[in-house]
Amino acid sequence: MSTSQVELRIKRFQPDHDPQPRWVTYRVPVEPVDRVLDALHVVKWYHDGSLAFRRSCAHGICGSDAMMINGKNRLACKVLIRDLTPPIVIEPMRGFPVVKDLIVDMESFFQKYRAIKPYLIADEPPSQERPQSPTQRQRFDDTTKCILCGACTTSCPSFWANHEYLGPAAIVQAHRFLFDSRDQATAERLAILNERSGVWRCRTIFNCTEACPRGINVTKAIGEVKKLLLRTGGHPSGPPATSA
Ligand code: FES
Repeated sequence: MSTSQVELRIKRFQPDHDPQPRWVTYRVPVEPVDRVLDALHVVKWYHDGSLAFRRSCAHGICGSDAMMINGKNRLACKVLIRDLTPPIVIEPMRGFPVVKDLIVDMESFFQKYRAIKPYLIADEPPSQERPQSPTQRQRFDDTTKCILCGACTTSCPSFWANHEYLGPAAIVQAHRFLFDSRDQATAERLAILNERSGVWRCRTIFNCTEACPRGINVTKAIGEVKKLLLRTGGHPSGPPATSA
């Protein structure tokens, strides 16, 4: 297998030293089958050990290495170098405070995730089990694929304009339980989604669907939540006309 050189332009920010972010270019050897994560490891292990980025599983499951690669939100472990046009430009996801280099502070993201109660809520413990038909399971199959990487929320202009917005990822997680035939907290969750920072902030821009590394049809799921709200008497509480 032949090795070639690729140029990585990485947006670095080390708040202990840097007043502002700065761009740093690295030339690293790569194999044709290497992924962006492999190239980042070469930088960290052989050029500058202070480069900071999150990663864990390296197989597109944990969602920890979402970042902006050549202008799009992606998982570094899922993108092959050979599929990118060099130089490869790598930045942190937009819309969250940068902690260091490619690491962003996702606390507000997980607060919103927790706000929609991302767990099954059912009154009585079942005597044996809670049966569900394949058709009922299929109803929310797509949204079970979410790995909470944040790629959808941080590609959303409505989120950039208003950080109070729950964002696509939290709504996808709400969808997963709203359409689960065993769950009994529909009204509770819909009340949260009907708030001013809820689902009506979505302007159907589709960036979220394009950004999702799991191929979830995020915009469709958000649309289904809006329709469910309208069917059950929910009504847009009316985001301010002047904001996105
Ligand atoms: S490292 Fe786990 S999704 Fe990429």
